[in-house]
Amino acid sequence: MEELKKSVNEITEQEIIKLVISNKKNKDVEYNKINFTLKENNKKQYYQVEKYTDKQVFHENIDMDILKEKILEYIKEDYKQLSAWSNTTTFDLKISKKGKVFLGKKKSDNTKLANKSHNKEKNYILKEGMIIEPLIDLGIFTKEGNVVSSKYDKYKQINRFVEIIDDEIKKNEYKELTILDFGCGKSYLTFVLYYYFVEIKKINVKMIGLDLKPDVIKKCNDIAKRYNYENLRFELGDINGFKYNNKVDIVMTLHACDTATDYALYNAIKWNTKMIFSVPCCQHEFNSQMKSDSLSILTKYGIVQERVAALMTDAVRANLLEYLGYKTQLLEFIDISHSPKNILIRAAKANVSKERKEKALNEVNSLIEKFNFNPTLFNLLKQDNLI
Ligand SMILES: C[S@@+](CC[C@H](N)C(=O)[O-])C[C@H]1O[C@@H](n2cnc3c(N)ncnc32)[C@H](O)[C@@H]1O
Repeated sequence: MEELKKSVNEITEQEIIKLVISNKKNKDVEYNKINFTLKENNKKQYYQVEKYTDKQVFHENIDMDILKEKILEYIKEDYKQLSAWSNTTTFDLKISKKGKVFLGKKKSDNTKLANKSHNKEKNYILKEGMIIEPLIDLGIFTKEGNVVSSKYDKYKQINRFVEIIDDEIKKNEYKELTILDFGCGKSYLTFVLYYYFVEIKKINVKMIGLDLKPDVIKKCNDIAKRYNYENLRFELGDINGFKYNNKVDIVMTLHACDTATDYALYNAIKWNTKMIFSVPCCQHEFNSQMKSDSLSILTKYGIVQERVAALMTDAVRANLLEYLGYKTQLLEFIDISHSPKNILIRAAKANVSKERKEKALNEVNSLIEKFNFNPTLFNLLKQDNLI
């Protein structure tokens, strides 16, 4: 302990911006990881302490002058690693099984880290440090619960998606939900949502992921089995023509390419699904059809046409949902610097007035006429006499 105290003294002689205690010695230790982050509020500096268990993060704020004491209180003999950053130095402290302490130090410019930690941190539902085992298997989190750096954008997208669904779910006390994830791909989001609903919200959820790729479906089913996720299964199949005979509460898609999104929305409408969350991508259909004499300025430049066509595709989808009795919004899903595919269609069954519905359909009809569009979702609904 003396050796440890000496090293902690040496570290805290500098102003520490961030400090992480990790690598617990055995699984009975309560916290997987403990972070100390220097924060500032009304010109007063303090440390925010975040203590991570498998499922939760506990917060406490402490005065700067008790940092050393708190580090020793938490580290006790329970952890093997401590990393810390001051503005000019990175410390790496390791404790061997026999309690021997090794302190590594190197000069580094950590000022960017200081700026970051002073900013308000985004309060993600899915926090770094949570040990969500399927996500370690899928390569989003490391074993220590840190986000793999190349997967950071995906992590942000998943968090935002969960946050948006959570907002809608909170409006009712759901005891059970059936969810279909169309074009689930590697299913990062599917696993996180299942975990979130079942383990955190304690909602009885049945979830199905559908995709065209046999290898991903096999891998996802293997992972679901490994974690005894009994009500999560993955099916091989095409969204177009997919049959499901029971009630579906939520249909979701994340980047289901081009018209795959239309088939997903169509299925949801046909099943009278309560909620739809859809982030479209690769909206090529309108771009290949778009013609206009009076608005030729929009078709004159390839890039303008491409972007306008994509936006109009989603506006038409949203209006059609409104016409069919959904309260519909288009939200910015994620900052455009993280992904240009950043619109989310959120639709929930509601009482939409007759006037609103008619206006929505008239707007679609006039856009179709103006640009010579032939939208998939519109055609599918027309075939069924739904419009
Ligand atoms: C860009 S990936 C997105 C995967 C996942 N949702 C995500 O965001 O990580 C699109 C996925 O949709 C699947 N897909 C595209 N068209 C489909 C269709 N008609 N039926 C089923 N899956 C489809 C593809 O195989 C692919 O895995």
